[in-house]
Amino acid sequence: MKNIYPNIYRNSLKNLNKAKNFLKRNEIIAVPTETVYGLAGNAYSSRAIKKIYRLKKRPKKNPLIIHYESIENLKKDVIVNIEFFKLYKKFCPGPITFILKKRKDSKICSLANANLNTVAVRFPSHKITKNLLKKLDFPLAMPSANMSAGLSPISALDVIDEFGKRVRFIIDGGKSKIGLESTVVNLVDGVKINRPGAISKKDLYKVFGKKISLVKKINKINSPGMLRKHYSPGIPIVLNCKIVDSKDAFIVFGKKNKKGKNIFNLSYKGDLKEAGKNLYKTMRKIKNLNFKKIRVVKIPNRDIGIAINDRLRKAAN
Ligand code: TXA
Ligand code: MG
Repeated sequence: MKNIYPNIYRNSLKNLNKAKNFLKRNEIIAVPTETVYGLAGNAYSSRAIKKIYRLKKRPKKNPLIIHYESIENLKKDVIVNIEFFKLYKKFCPGPITFILKKRKDSKICSLANANLNTVAVRFPSHKITKNLLKKLDFPLAMPSANMSAGLSPISALDVIDEFGKRVRFIIDGGKSKIGLESTVVNLVDGVKINRPGAISKKDLYKVFGKKISLVKKINKINSPGMLRKHYSPGIPIVLNCKIVDSKDAFIVFGKKNKKGKNIFNLSYKGDLKEAGKNLYKTMRKIKNLNFKKIRVVKIPNRDIGIAINDRLRKAAN
């Protein structure tokens, strides 16, 4: 069968080497991770970083997450601490991002971290991206592979939906297992959650034996990228709705809900993990079916449900 998307590449040694060559030439490619697909570029190259901001139309004050494969390499760029090691041991590689102090002699391009004195760092667990990182002598700056403020992609086709041919090389790593962006934990002064994700408050409680709070008041310092509307399908969203007779799309959760052409269930089983995995996929589907509005029923606000509600609130903003 002819490949109708010539910029989607399957996982093979040959294609990983191609990916490496793109990155070495400071080109931008899209790669799978367990959370969402990322738009990857050489974190040490200002040319590559500029291209990422331009492609996404991302405001320059919104810093990127830098992805590593080993602690040894991470230590060249940031100052680690005891809280970091505790979380690393428990959750890495995996869906967690750490905000740490940037080293003075770090090679990370200052535009990548928006000229702050901190850097967001993560160790993705997806095999393809781990293998790719192993081949490189630089870390990868990687925001989610969507236009700024839009829906994050959880498959290679979603990346096409966002960028078409403008991203020339996309590695297909199947559907992202988690489907929501990583938990962002600020470790610069204590431990705080900047962005909720699959690793929950409860999980962090187990590591530290004390409550870890979610930063409510977001400001320029604690999370520069979270000031405005985000994660949006581009149509109005109304939260905490009941199902009524309407032409709008409904996003529901659990088996008690009615079925219908305009009703989209995140998880019949009432499983929050499954709902998290289906959230962006469902919103993208609704957007592409040309519905004019989305109404969402109440989603339980526990575990990964906290992250789902966070994204829904920002999409509805
Ligand atoms: O799961 C993920 O984290 C995905 C995959 C591709 O790894 N990446 C991702 O990147 O979600 P992005 O760019 O969409 O979100 C990065 C978030 C933004 O909210 C940004 O403001 C925050 O991390 N961030 C980055 N550097 C920061 C810093 N130095 N201080 C505070 N927040 C920072
Ligand atoms: Mg994003």
